[in-house]
Amino acid sequence: MTEDTPRTDGGTEPAKEPAEDVALDPWGSASVGDYADLFAEFGIEAFDEIGGDVPDPHYLMRRGVIFGHREYDAVAAAMANDEPFAALSGFMPTGDPHIGHKLVFDELIWHQRQGGDAYGLIADLEAHAARGMSWPEIDEHARDYLLSLLALGFDPEAGTLYRQSDNREVQDLAFELGAKANFSEFEAIYGFDGETNVSHMQSVVTQTADILYPQLADEPKPTVIPVGPDQDPHVRLTRDLATRVRYFKVTEAFASFELDDDERHLVRAAYDALAGDVEDPETDVRCGDAAAWLAEYEPPEVSKPAVGDDDAGPSLADAKPSALKKLRAGGKEPLRPRVRFLDRNATEEAFEALIDAVEGEKRVFEGHVDAFDLSRETAESLAREVELDHGGFGFRQPSSIYHRFMTGLTGGKMSSSIPASHISLLDDPEDGYDKVKAATTGGRSTAEEQRELGGEADECPVYELYAYLLAGDDDGLAKEVYTECVTGERLCGGCKEQAAELMREFLADHQEKRAEAEALLEDLDIDLDSDRRGTGGEH
Ligand code: TRP
Ligand code: SF4
Repeated sequence: MTEDTPRTDGGTEPAKEPAEDVALDPWGSASVGDYADLFAEFGIEAFDEIGGDVPDPHYLMRRGVIFGHREYDAVAAAMANDEPFAALSGFMPTGDPHIGHKLVFDELIWHQRQGGDAYGLIADLEAHAARGMSWPEIDEHARDYLLSLLALGFDPEAGTLYRQSDNREVQDLAFELGAKANFSEFEAIYGFDGETNVSHMQSVVTQTADILYPQLADEPKPTVIPVGPDQDPHVRLTRDLATRVRYFKVTEAFASFELDDDERHLVRAAYDALAGDVEDPETDVRCGDAAAWLAEYEPPEVSKPAVGDDDAGPSLADAKPSALKKLRAGGKEPLRPRVRFLDRNATEEAFEALIDAVEGEKRVFEGHVDAFDLSRETAESLAREVELDHGGFGFRQPSSIYHRFMTGLTGGKMSSSIPASHISLLDDPEDGYDKVKAATTGGRSTAEEQRELGGEADECPVYELYAYLLAGDDDGLAKEVYTECVTGERLCGGCKEQAAELMREFLADHQEKRAEAEALLEDLDIDLDSDRRGTGGEH
């Protein structure tokens, strides 16, 4: 992030709320007390730290609207190296698509243009089960979401659009994944209880299947899910399930016993310290010697969890007693680095095939194989290859990026139940103009005061409109508005007039493109008149 990049913490950082409000609820209200808490509580990482690795980043990335991620580095690397990757997001057809959804549409389209396989899906099963929408209502909204996505530039030839209810592969995958999830977990993650309807639970496994669906095509690949942070529980669950269905777990080991990440760190330190002083490091470093060394060793303060390991372990010092115990029990057993393939879900044939495929020195045990001449990386790809050849999925853990929620135009949350607080992509352009003109601002009470103190762009929903949407790719404009505002050169009346005109123009243009997209939509193989029977929804 360079000095002169416009940032838009711009009014998007609502007042801090108590930490217990941080719980992310996919079906609750879309607001977040403090974005920083999400990093600490849930292990979402700051986007800033990897932003520099993204080739030609999108303006939402440049302006800090996309603030967090999980393992997006894998996607950025694929993008930079011209390797396959995918982007997928889903939309619950419960109302009109609005300017908040536009962020996600744009993110999908951008990833598609960067060379990714892009997927947009209509979460109709979820809308029916979790929100009680009737099928006719769902059909109507589904059409509206798709038209806007196409109007903004999604290429349906290159990408994939589907409805959950129509996608047999997704439903089959949901069934497989559901076999690895249980109710207690849903209770803990989503607060489900005895009153939760069963189809709602099914819609959760359906979403995990959506998220992994791009990896069924061709080969497992890095996949990014652009969403609001309220969807993070689904991402976390899916990352877990993606691992749980794998045939083998590849770890690094040093002797017959298992180590956790922190213990492994300590044992490696001991091995490295001792291996230089013996004649043959393959046989002459003994567990007991390593224990003696480790007893004297003071581990550094922090432990860095391994990539793909979402749970930070205890500190290294905490791991010392257990590592010592294991080493002492090992006694004379040689300590020797190796990669270990643990059998998790493999078929017998797959396990045999893996044993055959391991090159170099190996040792086969009940339930695991140790390989002495393979790097961790080679071992990982071997495990995936064997799994894919024997009927498994070989999934990679999906990645995600999170954008900030927009503040409502009337202050507070943007809410679909308060029409003045948000702008629908279907709003009449004149209404859009009026809503912006009526928006609250970060301005001072008098023009005089504003000239003197400057406006509070960081607290201003109108500035947010510029940064998130109206300025588009034009960083110059976003920066100009910001700087002129905070230096007192810009007054709210004119600023809102300019924004309102841009909004009117955007909506008129978007709606024209939607009309053009009708023909495109007709040609697609997607059924917008579902003949599903069902209940009329909640009234
Ligand atoms: N649950 C999402 C929502 O409430 C919709 C959704 C379904 C989704 N499947 C998905 C989002 C897969 C991202 C990825 O809007
Ligand atoms: Fe917001 Fe513009 Fe007023 Fe600044 S000048 S507070 S950006 S409306």
